[in-house]
Amino acid sequence: MISQAKLTHALEGVLVPGARRDVVKMNLVRALSASGDKVSVVIAAVALPPPAQEWLKSKVEEVLKGEPGVKTVDVKVIAAKPAEVNVVGKVIAVMSGKGGVGKSMVASLLATSLQREGKEVGILDADITGPSIPRMFGLSGVKPAGNEDSIIPVLSATGIEIMSINLMLENEDEPVIWRGPVVAKVIQQFWQDTLWGMLDYLIVDLPPGTSDAPLTVMQSLPVAGAVVVLSPQQLAAMVVRKAVKMAKKLSIPVLGVVENMSYFQIPGSKKRVEIFGTSHLAEMAEAAETTLTVQLPIDPKLAALCDDGKIEQYRSKDFDAFAKALSTAKVRQA
Ligand SMILES: Nc1ncnc2c1ncn2[C@@H]1O[C@H](COP(=O)(O)OP(=O)(O)O)[C@@H](O)[C@H]1O
Ligand SMILES: [Mg+2]
Repeated sequence: MISQAKLTHALEGVLVPGARRDVVKMNLVRALSASGDKVSVVIAAVALPPPAQEWLKSKVEEVLKGEPGVKTVDVKVIAAKPAEVNVVGKVIAVMSGKGGVGKSMVASLLATSLQREGKEVGILDADITGPSIPRMFGLSGVKPAGNEDSIIPVLSATGIEIMSINLMLENEDEPVIWRGPVVAKVIQQFWQDTLWGMLDYLIVDLPPGTSDAPLTVMQSLPVAGAVVVLSPQQLAAMVVRKAVKMAKKLSIPVLGVVENMSYFQIPGSKKRVEIFGTSHLAEMAEAAETTLTVQLPIDPKLAALCDDGKIEQYRSKDFDAFAKALSTAKVRQA
């Protein structure tokens, strides 16, 4: 008897062209069976141009033929849409009352921490008019693969799947000046027409504020929970309350609150200076009905890593603990 598990394991060695992830993780193996010395496999050719489909077909055949006991292999390639093969565990939206509080940085750190825990993670950059995720991961100028109707996300240095409008633009500096409905359409396409494959988490970097754009994302994606980012300023506290209220109205639980730029740690001393005033974190967490909070200091190292596209190298024990607690929070699945 040829074992199914062994065949699957063999297929884990076949990378999807343009994705750097294997056919099993991308959920492209739609059927796999063995009878005697014959193996039959059905592969969904999602987001692949014809030459890549041909390559994939022969690679699958070759790998399976290499397994002991296998004489003949029948590979059938079928057409499929990303939405038919994507299996996303939890969609977590990162939101803030206003821009510039470190929302994209927090979305990136959250993805990084979850990935370090061994989870499969993707980031959907839904901040269409101010996309900054590719830059933080050093992916400026990298173009995603795909065909006419589907896209393959770009993979970060540590293996996080990333989709952002900035990866699609000819020139990164090009401003995106589309109207609301177009922006909403693009975000929906990033969700539906991207081959995410099998993910434990999809982190969505929402546009800032409580306008139409973040609202659309929350309504059109199966968001399991939100993470709210704020800074210690008084004004920020007011806008955060609005963001929390918006999530509540849409029945999306706030899973955690991140206070960014909480303090500055004087180098070589234990002294912390609260540059932007005293913390409102406890009060905000209460308003959001969550007990899960974390503070991030103003850290020049963090700013440099963001600028250099090396956010994945930042380590914070506090933030890792926050991400871990978040991952065990009970929320509805996508
Ligand atoms: N805690 C921090 N310490 C140092 N620099 C930070 C911190 N948080 C954010 N920054 C800097 O601010 C920039 C803007 O952050 P970003 O996450 O893009 O904000 P937002 O998405 O809310 O507009 C980052 O690129 C980074 O350089
Ligand atoms: Mg941003």
